[in-house]
Amino acid sequence: MHIRVFDTPELAGAAAAKILFSVFDQKPDANLGVATGSTPEPLYAQLREAHAGGKFTLANSKAFALDEYVGIPEDHYERYRNVLRRELVGEDKTGLKDENLFTPNGLISDSHAAAAAHDQAIKDAGGVDLQILGIGSNGHIGFNEPGGWLVPRTHVEPLSAQTIRDNARFFDGDISKVPTTCISQGLGTIMEAGVLLLLAFGENKAEAVAQLAEGPISAKWPATIVQMHPEVYVLTDTAAGSKLELTEMYEERWKLAFGE
Ligand code: F6R
Repeated sequence: MHIRVFDTPELAGAAAAKILFSVFDQKPDANLGVATGSTPEPLYAQLREAHAGGKFTLANSKAFALDEYVGIPEDHYERYRNVLRRELVGEDKTGLKDENLFTPNGLISDSHAAAAAHDQAIKDAGGVDLQILGIGSNGHIGFNEPGGWLVPRTHVEPLSAQTIRDNARFFDGDISKVPTTCISQGLGTIMEAGVLLLLAFGENKAEAVAQLAEGPISAKWPATIVQMHPEVYVLTDTAAGSKLELTEMYEERWKLAFGE
C-alpha cells in the first residue's frame, strides 16, 4: 500500500483530492464511496473548491455511503444522509444529484433488508471505483467493529462502546444520544472497490494506523484487511502517523511511484 504522512490534514486532503481527480480523469462518471465523520472534511472541501472552479463534478456519478445509523430521525443533523447532502449534494457543492446519493435506509423496520438493498445498489451500479475511508480509533472501517468477520457484505452492526464514546462529540457529548446500531458496508463490500483512499488524523488514530499498515491481519483490527487490497492509499497527518515504524520505506515507495 502507499502511505504518506503529511504535516496537516489540509495537506493530506489536497493530496487525496489529487488521487481522486486522477481516477475521475480516467473515468469521469466514476462511482464514489463516501465516508462521513470529521476525517473526510478537508477532502470534501477540495472537491467543492474544484467544482466551483469548473475543474471537477460529481454530476455524472453515483455516491454510496459507507454506513448509516439505524433509527436516527429523518431530519436529524447527524443522520449520514443529511451530513452527505450538506457536504456534497447540489450545484453549489460538488454537482452530485440527490437521487444519485445512496445511503442505507436506517428508517425502515427491516434493517437487514435495507442492508441487502444497499449492497445490491452498489452491484447494480457496477461497483464503487474509489472508496473514501476514515478509520476508527479501534481500527474499524465503515462501522465494521473489532471482533467480527473480515468478509461480510453490507449488514447490520452493533456500534462498539469505543465508537459510541468517540462519536458522542457529534451528539452533544452525550453517549446516551448516540445510536447503538448501524448499517455498514461490510469489509467484503469495501474490498471490492477499485481504489481505497483512507485518511486518518489525530493522535487517537495512531495505533489503528500502525496496526492497519504493520499489524497482522486480524478481525481484532478490521482495517488490517486493506493489506490484501491491490490499490490502497493511506494519508495521515503527523499525529496519526506517529506510531508507524517503516516510514522511510513508505517515503521511498511514494517517491518511486509519484516522483515527489
Ligand atoms: C463513517 C465511517 C467511520 C469513520 C470513523 C472515523 O462513515 O465509516 O469508519 O470514518 O469512525 O470517524 P471520524 O472521521 O469522525 O474520526
